[in-house]
Amino acid sequence: MLYTIIAIVISYLLGSVSFSIVIAKAVKGIDIRQHGSGNAGATNTLRVLGKGPSIAVLALDIGKGILAVWLGRWLGDGNDWAPVLAGLAAIVGHNWPVWFRFKGGKGIATTIGVMASIAFLPALIAGIIAILSIVFTRFVSLGSLLFVCLTPVFVVILDRPAPLLWASLIICAFAIVRHRSNIVKLVKGTENKLGAKKGM
Ligand code: G3P
Repeated sequence: MLYTIIAIVISYLLGSVSFSIVIAKAVKGIDIRQHGSGNAGATNTLRVLGKGPSIAVLALDIGKGILAVWLGRWLGDGNDWAPVLAGLAAIVGHNWPVWFRFKGGKGIATTIGVMASIAFLPALIAGIIAILSIVFTRFVSLGSLLFVCLTPVFVVILDRPAPLLWASLIICAFAIVRHRSNIVKLVKGTENKLGAKKGM
């Protein structure tokens, strides 16, 4: 139990390392949260800094999700809950980072790392549908929302254990909360498309 708690705390601190903030500061000396959509994530890094930094942010934010689940498995008690809780802690850290005054991102890249580690096939199928939706509509936010909403559906269809269903439902709730402004813009038809340079 103690080691599971340690894994959760370390995962939260790790998730709080928001790579878009770190890389934007290092590359251009700016706070990414004051540019583009204001989101601390790979999509906004693409908008503000271009492809290279954006790919680095995406890989590192996915990587910290994978690492958190691995920590949960390594330090946990051998049940399904420790990796799930450690993964959730990393996403909470990304969204509300202790190192950056609790103003972080929307958690999708970290969610990809976490869900691919704990529920690979459901995440893969949801991910393919999400990518297709982004290719056809160019709305990353729509793809992100489809990914988090469809993952629990495929967790149920593929009969995965209960902790994975709870995790995917909580992650879905987090993502919807963090995408409130995107949802409003999608409904109004004013959401930023991939490739568009600006927009708050
Ligand atoms: O993962 C974030 C994405 O879904 C939306 O980002 O910057 O367009 O609000 P953004």
